[in-house]
Amino acid sequence: MICKDRVVIVTGAGRGLGRAHALEFARQGAKVVVNDLGVSLSGEGGSDAPAQRVVEEIRALGGEAVAEGSDIATDAGAQRLVATALETFGRLDVLVNNAGFLRDRMLVNLSEEEWDAVMRVHLKGHFLPLKHAGLHWRAESKAGRRPDARVINTSSGAGLLGSVGQGNYSAAKAGIVGLTLVASAELGRYGVTVNAIAPAARTRMTEQVFAATMAAPEEGAFDAMAPENVSPLVAWLGSAESKDVTGRVFEVEGGRICVMEGFRHGPSTDRGARWDAAELGPEIGGLLKEAARSEPVYGA
Ligand SMILES: NC(=O)c1ccc[n+]([C@@H]2O[C@H](COP(=O)([O-])OP(=O)(O)OC[C@H]3O[C@@H](n4cnc5c(N)ncnc54)[C@H](O)[C@@H]3O)[C@@H](O)[C@H]2O)c1
Repeated sequence: MICKDRVVIVTGAGRGLGRAHALEFARQGAKVVVNDLGVSLSGEGGSDAPAQRVVEEIRALGGEAVAEGSDIATDAGAQRLVATALETFGRLDVLVNNAGFLRDRMLVNLSEEEWDAVMRVHLKGHFLPLKHAGLHWRAESKAGRRPDARVINTSSGAGLLGSVGQGNYSAAKAGIVGLTLVASAELGRYGVTVNAIAPAARTRMTEQVFAATMAAPEEGAFDAMAPENVSPLVAWLGSAESKDVTGRVFEVEGGRICVMEGFRHGPSTDRGARWDAAELGPEIGGLLKEAARSEPVYGA
C-alpha cells in the first residue's frame, strides 16, 4: 500500500494502460478519479461506460473511485477534472496524464486536421491538466500546506526515437518530454515532481503491431506485453517514496525498466569567431565521428 490515502487522477483510464494504472493505484491504497471520454481509437464518439466500468472494478476490490468524463484537452474539462478530485476526495496528490488517440499516416498524406487532432489530445491534453493541478498545488504551497505531489506524463518510444507513419504522434510525444522537463523545473519549488514514461503494452492502440510480432504467451507464462506490467512503476512514481526523482523519462515494458538519457551535449568545436560555411564539411564530419550514433527510428 505505497499510495495509501493518496488521491490520484488518471486521464484516459477507461481502457488499456490508464485502466491498469487506476487499478494498481487502488490496490496500493489510493483513491482514484477515473477520467475517460470513451472515444474510439481515432478519437471519435464518446461514452461514459469505460470509466464507469473501471470505477466498478475498483469498488469491487474494496477501493474508492469516481468516474469523470471531461475532455482533458479543453481548459474547462481539465479544470473540472481537478475540481472533481478536490470536491470528491478533498485533496489531490498525483496526476497521471495518459489519455490520447492515434491518426497515423505517412507525412505526405497527413492532413492538417489529423495533425491538429493528435497534437491537441496528447500535447494540450497533458498541458491543461498539468496547469490546473499545478495551480492548485501552488495555492496549497502558498497557504503553508506544502504538497508532496507527483505528475507522471506519458511519452512514447515514438517521441524519443521517432516512428515511421506517426509524424503527428511522434512530435506530440517528443513535446511531452520537453513539457516534463520544464514542469519539473518550475513546480519543484511547490513540492511537485514531474516525470514521464515511455511504455509499451498490448492495448487496442498496439494490438495489430504486437499480434504480428508476438505470439500469445503459454498458459501461466509471463505475459510481457500486458498493460499491467507498466503500472507498478507509475504507482511508485506516484508514491511519497519517489520524492527525489524528477525530470526523468523511463522506458517500461514487461519486466524491463530503462532510464532514458535523452539529449546531452556531445562533441563540440568552437572557432571563437563566425564559421565560413565552406570550412564546415570536415569539421562537422569530425564531430559526428566522435559522437554517439543515433538509434534507429521505429519502423525505418
Ligand atoms: N500501448 C502502448 O504500447 C503505448 C506505447 C507508447 C505510448 N502509449 C501511450 O499510452 C497512453 C495510453 O494508451 P493505450 O495504449 O492504453 O490506449 P487506449 O486507446 O487503450 O486508451 C486511451 C484512452 O484515452 C481515452 N481518451 C482519448 N481522448 C481523450 C480525451 N480527450 N479525454 C479523456 N479521455 C480520452 C480513450 O477513450 C481511451 O480509453 C497513450 O497516451 C498512448 O499514446 C501507449
